[in-house]
Amino acid sequence: MKSFIPWIGGKSLLAQKITSLFPDDVDRYIEVFGGGGSVLFYKEKHANLEIYNDLNRNLVNLFRCAKYHRAELQREIAGYFNSRELFEEIKEKLKIPGFTDIQRAAMFYVQIKISYGSQSKNFCCYKKNLSPDYLEKIEKRLERVVIENKDFENLIKVYDRPKALFYCDPPYHKTENYYDAVFTKEDHERLKSVLSLIRGRFILSYNDDVYIRELYHDFEIIPVVRQNNLAKGMYRELIIKNF
Ligand SMILES: C[S@@+](CC[C@H](N)C(=O)[O-])C[C@H]1O[C@@H](n2cnc3c(N)ncnc32)[C@H](O)[C@@H]1O
Repeated sequence: MKSFIPWIGGKSLLAQKITSLFPDDVDRYIEVFGGGGSVLFYKEKHANLEIYNDLNRNLVNLFRCAKYHRAELQREIAGYFNSRELFEEIKEKLKIPGFTDIQRAAMFYVQIKISYGSQSKNFCCYKKNLSPDYLEKIEKRLERVVIENKDFENLIKVYDRPKALFYCDPPYHKTENYYDAVFTKEDHERLKSVLSLIRGRFILSYNDDVYIRELYHDFEIIPVVRQNNLAKGMYRELIIKNF
């Protein structure tokens, strides 16, 4: 199935390739930089224990509301429509406290859905379907998924086991500022250090970049090409793995 939200850097076009590399004997699957969760949602089940994680609090709140308060979230979203004024109002409201988790989740959902390139910055004037009916399927898929809101380092250390599989899709090198969560050059290096020491296996996505190729030169690097939705061209990426 597909995710219920578009997310910048989302892996829906590469999900088939990425999941085809998954080993058979995985007993826990951890999506470390969850975003829209397109790799998680691509299959009915990756392992007995599945974890979705992201550092973005609004995003994690939306996933938790879809899992635990789906009907209420659906009702709240139904009160919104596609308009520039509403988009600007939501942007301001999301900056302040005082809303319930469900209200905040609905606003965040609408903001992503009606923003240009799902970047939550500018209103996208194309007609978008805000119908949240699909949420029932999402609620079911998330039934057994643990939802975390941690920085990657602690998450990886907590869930690391010999039969764990970590799928990592961090902010890409030199495009870190696309996301609310700050990601620095030191974070790329910190990720490499953590992944180098795990007992389990990892699959990592990155843009095809000299710095990244050098940083991971000890691991297997598979170049892949995909359609670039925003720039309307082809985009070169890397899949890196330790098995
Ligand atoms: C490329 S996106 C993931 C896209 C996702 N694979 C998908 O298909 O939709 C990277 C994500 O990493 C999250 N992130 C940034 N810094 C993080 C950190 N230190 N720990 C965990 N997640 C982080 C961002 O909020 C963003 O959602």
